[in-house]
Amino acid sequence: MTEAMRGEAQSLVTRANIRQGNPASAGRASAASEGPAVIDVRDLEVAYYVYGAEPTRALRNVSVRLRPGEILGLVGESGAGKTTLARAIMRVVPRPGRIERGEIFFMGTDLGAMSEAELSKLRGRDLAMIVANPRGELNPLLRIGPQIATIAEVHLGVSRKRGLEMALDMLRAVAIPDPERRLRAYPHELSGGMAQRIVIAMALICGPRFVISDDATSGLDVTVQAQVLDLLRKLVREQNTSMLYITRDIGVAANFCDRVDIIYKGEIVEDAPTEAFFSGPAHPYSNFLFAAFSHNAELRRRWMGSAPSPESDAAEALCLYADRCVKRQVRCLAEHPALRELAAGRLARCHFPVER
Ligand SMILES: Nc1ncnc2c1ncn2[C@@H]1O[C@H](COP(=O)(O)OP(=O)(O)OP(=O)(O)O)[C@@H](O)[C@H]1O
Ligand code: SF4
Ligand SMILES: [Mg+2]
Repeated sequence: MTEAMRGEAQSLVTRANIRQGNPASAGRASAASEGPAVIDVRDLEVAYYVYGAEPTRALRNVSVRLRPGEILGLVGESGAGKTTLARAIMRVVPRPGRIERGEIFFMGTDLGAMSEAELSKLRGRDLAMIVANPRGELNPLLRIGPQIATIAEVHLGVSRKRGLEMALDMLRAVAIPDPERRLRAYPHELSGGMAQRIVIAMALICGPRFVISDDATSGLDVTVQAQVLDLLRKLVREQNTSMLYITRDIGVAANFCDRVDIIYKGEIVEDAPTEAFFSGPAHPYSNFLFAAFSHNAELRRRWMGSAPSPESDAAEALCLYADRCVKRQVRCLAEHPALRELAAGRLARCHFPVER
């Protein structure tokens, strides 16, 4: 790693730690590393079968584990398969998508073996999802209070009166100003940031064990996004909820997550604790993302150039990143790289990972 790169990495991690108000993520990581997996995805394959076209392999052999209280960042560009993974975990892959292979365990129970009725009970109570476009999640004809209260009534069996009390507590928890008045408001009366907080309140009111945030804060302006993220982290920490935090923004992942998984064309290509990752990504694609985020000219020159011209006549490269990879070699065209351990807790899918 060059000095320039080291400086850039240090500044990213320092910014992350300042935002966390935490000298290092080590404390969080160790808290998160205890206990069995809350979510354990094993060898998951999902494909979309669009009539008249080759199936799109949206997820390829994906394995992901989240421990209690852990925030895992899933980072990758548009079309990489992030939402597909979120939907597969919630067992709501839309047609023409199909789970082809693999298993998903929640607290040791195979979700694939559960009936739709059992899954419906889990969703909203133990498994929750926060998506972008919060307004699309809210019923425009209903006041906010009853919308939030209904979730507690349905999943926890509480009365309407208790549901409304819980809704008010949640509005306070997500720092909505004048919460009593907002309970009686309709969705169109809320700002975008407020609507996103309401959706977070709805996702967390039952104290879920696991929550997915799918690009949920990207539509907010930067200041509101920072506030909503701080709040989200505080709430999941308090409830010891595990979280899959999906984003295209590697900078947000640096600030927010305990661990980072990089996904490319449906494959996990790197998995590392946040601090280790940002002090030196191992996979060339991770370095590309890192360089694209940074203002460092040397990093950008090194990782964002074009791939070398083909060295052989191999019909098809077997590393999915080969056509863009500045480090590509002949072996990359002949052998699909496995996800392998480089150091304790650090995995990369590359024949020639970046050595530090
Ligand atoms: N309903 C669908 N029908 C057909 N193909 C789909 C469908 N949903 C997703 N795909 C395809 O599956 C792949 C993964 O899509 P997915 O939405 O999971 O990506 P993503 O990482 O969430 O992208 P983004 O960052 O843009 O949200 C893409 O190639 C996409 O075109
Ligand atoms: S296996 Fe080869 S082509 Fe693929 S990312 Fe590694 S160096 Fe690049
Ligand atoms: Mg998506």
